[in-house]
Amino acid sequence: MKVLEALREGEFTRSWALDGLEFYNCTASAIEGEDCNDAVHLLYPDKVEEAAHEFLAGFRGASLYAVKANPHPAILKLLWRAGVRHFDVASLREVELVSDLLPGAQLYFMHPVKSRQAIRFAYARGVRAFAYDSMDELNKIAEETGGASDISLFLRLQVGSKDAAYALGGKFGATLMEAPLLLGRARRMAQKIGVCFHVGSQCMRPSAYREALGKVSAMLQGCGVSLDIIDVGGGFPIPYPGMEPPAMQAYFDEIHAALDDEGFADLETLCEPGRALVAKAGAVAVRVEMRRGKDLYLNDGTYGALFDAGVPSWQFPMALHTGDGRKPALRQTGFRFFGPTCDSCDKMEGPFFLPDDVEEGDWIVVQHLGAYGFTMQTQFNGFYSETMVVIEPEATQVHGLFSVPRIEAVAED
Ligand SMILES: Cc1ncc(COP(=O)(O)O)c(C=O)c1O
Repeated sequence: MKVLEALREGEFTRSWALDGLEFYNCTASAIEGEDCNDAVHLLYPDKVEEAAHEFLAGFRGASLYAVKANPHPAILKLLWRAGVRHFDVASLREVELVSDLLPGAQLYFMHPVKSRQAIRFAYARGVRAFAYDSMDELNKIAEETGGASDISLFLRLQVGSKDAAYALGGKFGATLMEAPLLLGRARRMAQKIGVCFHVGSQCMRPSAYREALGKVSAMLQGCGVSLDIIDVGGGFPIPYPGMEPPAMQAYFDEIHAALDDEGFADLETLCEPGRALVAKAGAVAVRVEMRRGKDLYLNDGTYGALFDAGVPSWQFPMALHTGDGRKPALRQTGFRFFGPTCDSCDKMEGPFFLPDDVEEGDWIVVQHLGAYGFTMQTQFNGFYSETMVVIEPEATQVHGLFSVPRIEAVAED
């Protein structure tokens, strides 16, 4: 009830959003203050607000936050505070989480293969938008909503994802050949119909969205069904070392121009950013438990927040907090990382460039992990961290930390 009242009265204060979290004025004092056995998740609230404003001002339709990227309540509330009102949810638990926390939020259940319980639960909670990619799923939605006609149905289409650093095309999506029949059935069931797609995560080329929209347009020729909504999905990138995408505005401009060129100017438009809204808002500090030559054994790994460093083998901006307060060496070495679990897959090849003298007890701050970091943790072997702390905006200038400039060459012994 307190939340409802706050929502009604517009009291979306920072302290409401960050309720229950510890505050620190710099990353180094957070690491020392927490004195934590596990990794420490760091939250930079101003970065959430910055990214939200970029989408709300730059994208011409509604921006649905893809909750899977980071479902932490503080992230959801910061986005709400910044003006995000639409959320892409993928599971019963995500529906429950967001509808409990933000009762005024508009939820879109965009997973194309849902359980019957999840559909029933979502409809009862007021969710009126559902994705599908097969006749079986349409039947399920019809049965579990009691034949509701007050819904929007989104056909998930398969489009290529060759321009994305993390492809998402291999699992879901109807083919363009299957689409007309599925759209026709949805038209008879729903108040509004749309299509959605995902060009792949961390999509490095804005024209990928134009190509996908071109395929939708070609499919609709002679299909005999008109659309109400186009949802261009997620995939909006952020810069990581070695991956410098064009500015976000170039993505918005390309999408808007393609919508106009393909005759979709009058349709309701949606997008579903996850990574781009929250990646820069988080970091994870991990401790070095042992050094063996150029191998560092850490207290977090691929079963934890460092999945993206190991499985797709990405690089991240990093900084070092030395455990003994020494000034780290200028010379750098490319290290391989190992996570803490017993599984030999828990390995990150890198090479990750850090000061040559990294040693046990030092903390490595892995930045841009606000997306697909905290959320990827398992509890395998008992290694995970629930510690999330807030770093005040002025502290993001990494005081007391030694940021690691990127160099190309490995300093060999
Ligand atoms: C249906 C759907 N929408 C949105 C997203 C968010 O994608 P991104 O984080 O690349 O923006 C995903 C990611 O898997 C997704 O599956």
